Amino acid sequence: MDALTALHTRTSSPRLSEPAPSGTVLENIYKAAFRAADHGLLQPWRFLEVRGDARARLGDLLVTAALSDDPELSEAQQEKIRCKPSRAPLLIITIASKKDHPKVPEFEQDLSAAAATQNMLIACHAQGVGVMWRTGALAYHPIVKEGLGLQAHEKIIGILYLGTHEGPTRTLSTPNLSDFVQDW
Ligand SMILES: Cc1cc2nc3c(=O)[nH]c(=O)nc-3n(C[C@H](O)[C@H](O)[C@H](O)COP(=O)(O)O)c2cc1C
Repeated sequence: MDALTALHTRTSSPRLSEPAPSGTVLENIYKAAFRAADHGLLQPWRFLEVRGDARARLGDLLVTAALSDDPELSEAQQEKIRCKPSRAPLLIITIASKKDHPKVPEFEQDLSAAAATQNMLIACHAQGVGVMWRTGALAYHPIVKEGLGLQAHEKIIGILYLGTHEGPTRTLSTPNLSDFVQDW
C-alpha cells in the first residue's frame, strides 16, 4: 500500500483476534514510530508489550485501581474491567518519557510520543494489521502507572490493541475541506 492510500484509508479495528503481528511486521511498526517528528531528537518515548498471560495480570491491575476508587464495584463490573486487555492478542503501551531539555517543554515531548503512536497506526494499516488506540480513565490512574513501572516523569499516551481485524470495515466519509481550512 502506498503512503497516501494508507493515510487516507486508515480506520480502527474494535474487534481483534489472533494472530498478533510479529517479526518484521512488528519491527516495521516500531520503525514507523521512530520516524515521528521529534523536537530536539529526544526520542521521548518507550513501549511496553503485553501479551499472553500478562494481559490477565494487566486486567487484575486495572481492577485493583478501579476498586481503589470505588470499593463497591460489583463482581460483574470488575469482570468487565478485568477482561479489557484480553480484547486483542497484543497490547503496546506507548509511554511518554520526558527528557530534561532547556528548549523542548514536556507538552511538545508528549506530542512527539502521540505522533509516534499515530505513525504506528498507519504502519499497522499499511501492513494489514488491525489496531485500535484506547486509553480510558484507568490508563491515567496512579496505581496503574505504578504497577506498569512508570516513573514520575512518565505518562501513558496510548494503549494500542493489535491483532487481526474482525468484522466489517467502517465506511469512510470524506470531510469537506472548507469546514476545517480557512484563509487567514
Ligand atoms: C488519545 C486517544 C485515546 C483514545 N481512547 C479511546 C478509548 O479509550 N476508547 C475508544 O473506544 N476509543 C478511543 N480512542 C478513539 C479510537 O482510537 C478511534 O480513533 C475512534 O474510535 C475513531 O475510529 P477510527 O480511528 O476508525 O476513525 C482514542 C483515541 C485517541 C487519539
